[in-house]
Amino acid sequence: MGMTMLKGSLGTMVSTVLMIVGMACGTGMNGQTASPPPPPPPPPPGQHAVELPPGQGRATVLRVCSKCHSPLILVANPRTREAWEETITKMAGLGAQATDDEFGEILDYLSANVSPQTVKVNVNKATSSMLQISLGLTDKEGDAVVAYRLKNGEFKTIDDLKKVAGVDAKKLDDHKEKIEF
Ligand code: HEC
Repeated sequence: MGMTMLKGSLGTMVSTVLMIVGMACGTGMNGQTASPPPPPPPPPPGQHAVELPPGQGRATVLRVCSKCHSPLILVANPRTREAWEETITKMAGLGAQATDDEFGEILDYLSANVSPQTVKVNVNKATSSMLQISLGLTDKEGDAVVAYRLKNGEFKTIDDLKKVAGVDAKKLDDHKEKIEF
């Protein structure tokens, strides 16, 4: 018990000293003002980490469809044209406001750019279900990719991705042009 306490406080002391040394090194090298790296600026309103792909109508989508939720919700839910039509009707019912022309533009944009056939997926960020939708993976394969990534770090090439046990390499090749790192 005594030992444990001693060890505990020693540990705290050591890490405190290391912290101070670290801070001192950060500030005083060669008299240069090594200021700590600035925090990343907050994203401007309407912009999000995951981007809607470029395309005709994108600005309208951002304006109309990011009022109540992040447009990330769109990228995470690639759909066919029929399904987008239903979604847009539902959103209009929930209060989304646009002219008929604008809703038409949004439908065209989403059908062309956020469909299961076209949506790109960053395999270092995507959830299992996003991987399943864009690459046609099974639940098991999607989960295996995420688990492998957590354990081994980021994928850099498609060959890294092919090392994940249980994932069908043919599916990866078939969807190669949609895979981003
Ligand atoms: C007035 C607020 C509002 C606006 C504007 C809005 N939404 Fe939504 N959206 C919601 C709410 C509330 C939910 C969650 C309710 C639900 O899932 O049924 C939602 C959920 C969603 C979802 C996920 C649920 C689903 O149906 O798959 C998608 C996709 C979506 N919105 C697309 C859009 C699109 C496309 C637009 C632009 C045309 C849009 N939203 C504009 C309120 C809005």
